[in-house]
Amino acid sequence: MSSQNNISSAIADAQERARALDRDDPLAFTRNEFNIPTKSQIASTRLPDSATTKAGSGSDDGAADKCVYLCGNSLGVQPKRTQTRINQYLSTWATQGVQGHFKPLEESPLPTWLDADEKAAQLIAPIVGASEAEVAVMQTLTANLHLLMSAFYKPDINGKHKIMLESKAFPSDHFAVETQLRHHNLDPATSMITLTSPSSPEDNVLTTAEILAAITEHASSTALLLLPGIQYYTGQLLDIPTITAHAHSHGVFVIWDLAHAVGNAPLALHDWGVDAAAWCSYKYLNAGPGCIGGLFVHERNSAVPPPVEEVAEGEGEGEGEGEDYANRLAGWWGNDKRTRFAMVNRFRPVPGAAGFQLSNPSILDITSLSASLEVFAEAGGVGALRAKSLRLTAFLEGLLVGEGALVGREERALFRVITPRDPAQRGAQLSLKLSGGLLEPVMRELEKRAVIVDERKPDVIRVAPAPLYNTFEDCVLFVVAFAEALAVARKEVAV
Ligand SMILES: Cc1ncc(COP(=O)(O)O)c(C=O)c1O
Repeated sequence: MSSQNNISSAIADAQERARALDRDDPLAFTRNEFNIPTKSQIASTRLPDSATTKAGSGSDDGAADKCVYLCGNSLGVQPKRTQTRINQYLSTWATQGVQGHFKPLEESPLPTWLDADEKAAQLIAPIVGASEAEVAVMQTLTANLHLLMSAFYKPDINGKHKIMLESKAFPSDHFAVETQLRHHNLDPATSMITLTSPSSPEDNVLTTAEILAAITEHASSTALLLLPGIQYYTGQLLDIPTITAHAHSHGVFVIWDLAHAVGNAPLALHDWGVDAAAWCSYKYLNAGPGCIGGLFVHERNSAVPPPVEEVAEGEGEGEGEGEDYANRLAGWWGNDKRTRFAMVNRFRPVPGAAGFQLSNPSILDITSLSASLEVFAEAGGVGALRAKSLRLTAFLEGLLVGEGALVGREERALFRVITPRDPAQRGAQLSLKLSGGLLEPVMRELEKRAVIVDERKPDVIRVAPAPLYNTFEDCVLFVVAFAEALAVARKEVAV
């Protein structure tokens, strides 16, 4: 595709196809559940007055007024019902005070605060493919990774003491591993293994075979493997069941960071035999910036032995008890609910993931998360969303680099897709690596065109059509703006 005429007709054709796909989309209705910012809102530098921030307002303007928001991999947009549910929570607190903990209110869709964590666990369990008892809605992602490592990383300096992770892991994961090692008086130089892909040294798209080979090679000294379900930079979806099974066959405990996978790719953590995992809720789960995260602990890793006092009351208090959970860092909210308020200083966890909780959770956070998870349930869950996501991302890919691409030949030479081209090895996101120096002007030009995507310095743009609220037309609008941005940037940087 080279001439301007050809491009113009390809754009018109793509727009027509996109509109037809959107019309036939059985999930089209969920877009209206979200506040997609308008072009004028994202250009504005003022906080709108209260009239424009009422729940749901500003969202029913014509589609043409919306910005093109393809950034759910970073921060999901706000569900309209978030404001409604938060207002209901605020009314409960305002009118009931402490009674909100335990007094159910007629007509309220909200659980009592004492039950809110359990209710949220019920909503998240199907999204990660776990039983309700295997998940806990708690803390934030990095904190949960630390808590899981505190519980399950038991280094033996004469044997298995190393932690393996990718060399280009998200920095927080890298810091968490380094500091866990130091916490155990170990030296990251000798106890940390970072994986680099021999076949893809620049982008570090690790193949499953490369990961399996590294596990085999380091099995005798490796205690724990920390990997992302979906890699944040490349968008690669890893083969969680195969890697988990191989690690287990070598006695390696695996923790998965599911920041980019949760709510994006179908997960079956229980059936895959995953040991433990953690995630955040502000990306594809749309719970809001910094909102409460979650963790999964397979039921085989969270059993609680019977209480000692039932064996011999008073004698050898504490002896033998807690062997299986002694490593974890504990707090009162992880204590068995039946004795939580007995105020006895003898920790006995709730069996399951809930036994890893520390503090009473922020109900503001849980309310926000649960509002979004209601929409997930109405959409039919992650399976239905994945079916749309596969089509959306393939459509976007085709417009960028396929037969009918909307990008001219010269601009096409200025970027490449670093996300695996096999749909089974990626989620919603495509990562576009730009030629040197183009990132800043391309991002500026996209912003001018009311297109929101995110950048990862030095040269990657991440574009994520989220099936809950993005349309096929969004993909066309993005690619048209991207091609224009590249053309401007190319002249400016003279590549
Ligand atoms: C892959 C990955 N790991 C960890 C984090 C850190 O998350 P948090 O700030 O919620 O601890 C992020 C944040 O975006 C992430 O993308």
